[in-house]
Amino acid sequence: MAATVKTRQIVFSLKLAIHFISLFLLAKLYFQAFNDRLGADPVEAVLHFTGIGAFNLLLLSLLVSPLAQQFKWSFLLQVRRLIGLYSFTYALFHLVSFLAFEVQFDWSLFLNEIIDRPYITVGMFAVVILFLLTITSVSSIKKTMGRNWQTLHNAVYVALCLVALHFYWSVKSDIIEPSIYIVISVFLLYLRKNKIRRWFRSF
Ligand code: HEM
Repeated sequence: MAATVKTRQIVFSLKLAIHFISLFLLAKLYFQAFNDRLGADPVEAVLHFTGIGAFNLLLLSLLVSPLAQQFKWSFLLQVRRLIGLYSFTYALFHLVSFLAFEVQFDWSLFLNEIIDRPYITVGMFAVVILFLLTITSVSSIKKTMGRNWQTLHNAVYVALCLVALHFYWSVKSDIIEPSIYIVISVFLLYLRKNKIRRWFRSF
C-alpha cells in the first residue's frame, strides 16, 4: 500500500517535471526569438532547437522500456506516452516554424520543398507517423483498435529511422552530431530486434 502511494507520487512528480521542462524551454525559445535574442540567424536557431528537442524526446521515449526492464522500474512506463506526446509537440513547432519563417505559408512552395528535397520528404513522413501515433494514443481509441494498436505503434521505429536520416541529410558539413544520433538510434532498435523481426513477419 505504502509502496503504491510512493510510486504514484514518483510518477506524478516525473510527469510534472516533463510538462514543466518541455513547456518552459519552448516558451523561452519563442520569447527569445520574438525579442531578437537568438543571435544572427534566429530561424536556424529555432529550427535547430525544436528539431533536436523532438529527436531527443523520441529517443528518450524509446529508452523508457529498456530502462524499466533492466532496473525493474515498471513505473517509468507510465510516463512514456507523455514523452512521446512532447516529441510530437516539438516536431509540430519545428514544422510550423519552417512553414512560417522559411516558406511564409506559401503552400505550393512547401509542396515543392517536399518533392525536391529528400530530407524534407522523409521529415514529412516522420511527422505523419508521429501524428498518427499521437491521435491513437488516447485510451478509448487504443481499446477500440485492439491488436492493431500495437502494430501501428511499432511504426515509431520507422519514424526513428526517418528522423535520423532527415537529420543526417539536413547538415551541410559537420556529420559528427547526426552520426552520434544514428548510433544511438541503431542501438535502441537493436535492443528490440526480436520484436521488430516479428512485426515485419506480421505483414
Ligand atoms: C515536414 C517536416 C519537417 C520539415 C519541413 C523540417 C525542416 C527542417 C529544416 C529546414 C531543418 C534545418 C536544415 C538546415 O539547417 O538547413 C531541419 C533540421 C532538423 N530537423 Fe527537421 N523538419 C521536419 C521534420 C522533422 C521531424 C519530425 C524531426 C524530429 C522528430 C526533425 C528533426 C530535425 C533535426 C534533429 C534537425 C537538425 C537540426 C540542426 O542541427 O540544425 N525534423 N528540419
